[in-house]
Amino acid sequence: MKTTSRYNAYEPDACGHIHYSADDDAVWHDLIIPQRARTDRYCSRIFRSGLDSLQLSDDRIPQCSEVSERLEAATGWRVTPVPALISFDRFYALLADRRFPAASFIRARDEMDYLQEPDIFHEIFGHTPLLANPQIAEFSHRIGQLGCRARPEDHVWLARLYWFTVEFGLIREDGRIRALGAGLASSASELPYAVDGDIALRQPFDLLEVLRTPTASTSTSRSILYSTASNSCSN
Ligand SMILES: [Fe+2]
Repeated sequence: MKTTSRYNAYEPDACGHIHYSADDDAVWHDLIIPQRARTDRYCSRIFRSGLDSLQLSDDRIPQCSEVSERLEAATGWRVTPVPALISFDRFYALLADRRFPAASFIRARDEMDYLQEPDIFHEIFGHTPLLANPQIAEFSHRIGQLGCRARPEDHVWLARLYWFTVEFGLIREDGRIRALGAGLASSASELPYAVDGDIALRQPFDLLEVLRTPTASTSTSRSILYSTASNSCSN
């Protein structure tokens, strides 16, 4: 896990509103327009129907409060702005409370394709459509509850389970592999690579294998073990 960041969190004002610049909104626009087309082609129905339901703006970075309003109506979840990097303890406590921690900054233009720490595009575009799905919302809530009870040395097991499902999981829909995870849905290159790439390693979901697989070298090394979730999660 990274412990430093080149980015600074944006502080919300007294009303919880974050004031983004016109340049920030332009980065959001330039990310979301091509990525919507990629997700139509590569992402699961779970992701696409969640994205439709949230009606995210193409022209400006959405405020956490407005996304929360739509998400809460669907599954009871809310989105809470946090600094770029937070501890496992805080992360699990927020999930247990059905609050998704969202880093408030947006990436620089030299990291448009992929960045290691989560930014607001990854959090809102990648994660919140999944949290509009009742099964994934409940799964994330349970991960948070278990994380709050786990010993610190056991957090790694939950982190791996989360990584190979909610972050980088694949799913089989109508006999075809589709992207499920937020880390795929929000990345221009990881998304087609994970679904269609010749050298991506796609494995059927096996809990023990997932728990045995470290996450540190994924995404940047391009030698990823992607876990395929079962049909039972598709609806
Ligand atoms: Fe994420």
